[in-house]
Amino acid sequence: MHRETSLQVSDLIWPLFVTDGTGVEQPVASLPGVSRWSCDVLARRAKAAAELGIPCIALFPNTQADRRSDDGAEALNPDNLMCRAIRAIRDAVGDGIGVLTDVALDPYTSHGQDGLIDDTGYVRNDDTVEVLVAQALNQANAGADIVAPSDMMDGRIGLIRDALEQAGHANVQIMSYAAKYASAFYGPFRDAVGSGGLLKGDKRSYQMDPANAAEALREVEMDIAEGADSVMVKPGLAYLDIVRAVKDRFDVPVFAYQVSGEYAMIEAAVAAGAGDRDALVLETLMAFKRAGCSGILTYHADHAARLLNG
Ligand code: PBG
Repeated sequence: MHRETSLQVSDLIWPLFVTDGTGVEQPVASLPGVSRWSCDVLARRAKAAAELGIPCIALFPNTQADRRSDDGAEALNPDNLMCRAIRAIRDAVGDGIGVLTDVALDPYTSHGQDGLIDDTGYVRNDDTVEVLVAQALNQANAGADIVAPSDMMDGRIGLIRDALEQAGHANVQIMSYAAKYASAFYGPFRDAVGSGGLLKGDKRSYQMDPANAAEALREVEMDIAEGADSVMVKPGLAYLDIVRAVKDRFDVPVFAYQVSGEYAMIEAAVAAGAGDRDALVLETLMAFKRAGCSGILTYHADHAARLLNG
């Protein structure tokens, strides 16, 4: 009776990794329990997720090595893995589940950075934004419901919004990774999309300093002004103060990403006999809701959905 916060299946977004082939299920070593799936398997799992009541899935491609390049041009290929995955899900589930797509170049670049780099390896903001706009359009054309720029370039939300409107995609939403920190919690994800081994240096010239909170509010403010429909804070548990600050200050849905390293920590605790999976999953997800999240991206989404459905 006195409970202040609720956690529901409709709060969950399930991030999924896509790979080439048919009937493929490739475990990701650093993410026990998570696999890369080929489009056919992915479509079946998306259907099952819809049946569990999960409202949305987030797609990340593991692009073949020979399709990666300095300029990440594969991101603009209308038949790339991401676009094929979107179409496979649409064929299997129709509009029964939302499809959220990642806008950033790291799954497509040979250097693993999210944007175009200069001779020194520095990521060039404005040139990158031009490519991101084309990438977002490519995903919208293939049927994405929500494009989610995770690159942290400045100015991309406004330009993507304009391009979507002009191309007749007025109903495609933008969920901005507005406050994304340069974090040590992304390691397993980089393994999953195959960019980890390629990455030289770090992403600190565009992702945020974990020491900063006021800057997160400035980033969120800019993205809302440019037309973001919702904003995201990432990683999750270590940044719930940022979620709360954004929620208190702005009237916009706030999401958080319980990222790969957070998932791996829970699974490692379970494997070590240091905690109970079900309890850890539900407690951490409830903490996101208590902090003010409208929803959570989590690799435990299907597990949590089964628990919540009893
Ligand atoms: C990159 C991207 C990353 C994640 C989502 N999109 C990693 C990074 O910034 O290097 C991380 C998600 C996770 O760790 O689960 N565009």
